[in-house]
Amino acid sequence: MTSHFLTGLELNKAQALKLLSLAQTIKQQPKEFNQALAGQSIVTLFEKPSLRTRVSFDIGINRLGGHAVYLDQQNGAMGGRESVKDFALNIATWADGIVARVNAHSSLQTLAEFSSVPVVNSLCDLYHPCQALADFLTLQEVYGDVSKIKLAYLGEGNNVTHSLMLLAATLGTDFVAISPKGASPDAQVLKQAEQLAAESGASITVSDDIEAATGADALYADTWVSMGDTTPLEQVKAKYMPYQINQQLVEQSGASTILHCQPAHREYEITSEVMDGANSKIIQQAENRMHAQNALLVSLLNPNYV
Ligand code: CP
Ligand code: NVA
Repeated sequence: MTSHFLTGLELNKAQALKLLSLAQTIKQQPKEFNQALAGQSIVTLFEKPSLRTRVSFDIGINRLGGHAVYLDQQNGAMGGRESVKDFALNIATWADGIVARVNAHSSLQTLAEFSSVPVVNSLCDLYHPCQALADFLTLQEVYGDVSKIKLAYLGEGNNVTHSLMLLAATLGTDFVAISPKGASPDAQVLKQAEQLAAESGASITVSDDIEAATGADALYADTWVSMGDTTPLEQVKAKYMPYQINQQLVEQSGASTILHCQPAHREYEITSEVMDGANSKIIQQAENRMHAQNALLVSLLNPNYV
């Protein structure tokens, strides 16, 4: 059966740690991996905009000796000119893998159902698992053992929150999602995370109280309005402002690391002071997208290489 990476739940704790370790090796010894995907072509398909994901996959695949074929929002729009099923059937005849950023998670499931080559989720409405891998790679670089830390996410419960929560639960990291009332993470994803946490020993909680960030080692922000949601940022500003990551919150929580998946709206979900401050690992986190994804691609497309 073809292996896909659609939710992040494909990885148990040992597999996730192995992948992070491979990412670290690839980061430190890139030359040893410059033929890891030699002769392989990967289609990267986007139904939504992207900077980090598009560029990190493209350059990352190139550094592994592979070839990336980019389908932009016009040519990668599935279900218009032809169905998701036909995208999968056609692309799989030429390519060795498909990386897809889609509007609806169900499109990834359909791609995976009809693709004979691995499908990787590079963001959907429910998950952003490649982001979470890079986030935990970064936390591992800062703290070593991530099962000994507490991570607090602030803002809208969304795709990024879900993937962070699930990987935290898998790896044994204490995690709290702090969101205004009505903007909590999906109840079903929370339940899945709680089940994983029962095995790993992680504490997984949600709260609407900013005090829940106290004692967190790391604070994490994402946009208050995700791609596809046309609500103006100004319209939700009052609701989310109490959850902004600013210097006062950093001091109050005692956190030593600040993360943001980006794109960031400076002075909204995070202040420039914090984003550019000494505790910010946001650019390291962005760099790690490429290393984490490369580890994933090598594991899926050339497992004998490692
Ligand atoms: N974090 C992230 O996925 O960024 P892009 O939307 O720019 O790819
Ligand atoms: N939650 C954001 C993440 C962007 C990387 C979105 O879906 O737009």
